[in-house]
Amino acid sequence: MDKKKVTLSDLQRKKDQGRKITMMTAYDYPSARLVDEAGIDTILVGDSLGMVVLGYDSTVPVTMEEMIHHCKAVYRGVSSSFIIGDMPFMSYQAGLEQAVSNAGRFIKEARCDAVKLEGGSEMAPVVRAIVKAGIPVCAHIGLTPQTATMLSGFKVQGKDAESARMQVRSAKDLEDAGAFMMVMECIPDLVAARITRDLRIPTIGIGAGRECDGQVLVYHDLVGLFERFTPKFVRQYVNLSPLIKEALSQYKSEVEKGAFPGREHTFSMTPEEAAKI
Ligand code: KIV
Repeated sequence: MDKKKVTLSDLQRKKDQGRKITMMTAYDYPSARLVDEAGIDTILVGDSLGMVVLGYDSTVPVTMEEMIHHCKAVYRGVSSSFIIGDMPFMSYQAGLEQAVSNAGRFIKEARCDAVKLEGGSEMAPVVRAIVKAGIPVCAHIGLTPQTATMLSGFKVQGKDAESARMQVRSAKDLEDAGAFMMVMECIPDLVAARITRDLRIPTIGIGAGRECDGQVLVYHDLVGLFERFTPKFVRQYVNLSPLIKEALSQYKSEVEKGAFPGREHTFSMTPEEAAKI
């Protein structure tokens, strides 16, 4: 029997009852199925797919078409998790009309349940416009990888009192604009805890300590499928890369030796039929 689909009220109820919310990225049908079957509350089709799946050196080049393509595959693998599509760089910054129309594509074409976008208080009008169109928005503050150049690199945000105040202000403005959830990336745990207490909506941390209402990690980091670098906040629960490499070299060696395929992998026909070929 199909499990019940997770809803916005389920997520809010978890915060209200002090139960942790789980979020995991997924980018295709098989990873979405595994995450969904593990009972994870929300799947984020993150623009991190640009790095961990498409091999770009950052999330900046990711396009709307790439995001829609991957979100569609995720949708086909999910029966229960709440799906959030990540709006790529420059799909929501050029104007409210552009932002609403691209957010709409995530819902209509890719069948996501909500969208996520990066940025602080300056993004409040964008969040307000998308929510007004009937699309739930998850905000994303702290380290915002799409605009990391403006932040002078991939650095922890809110480490001094002034920039911490800015994060707190952003969180409040985005909640007031109608965001239903707040991802907080790479901010000190004390700042994340303060925001989590201040906000009515759930907060989801990545490198933001354990006081957040929930946590998110990138799938490929958690299972050891991204080897270029590992951020400090990642816990690798399993390291699949060496296992996969070992399987591939066994396959190569068995094909080269003629040990694969075996009789059990082979289709046969009668010698009488073969004689007529
Ligand atoms: O793109 C992504 O995967 C994200 C998470 C790291 C929060 O934005």
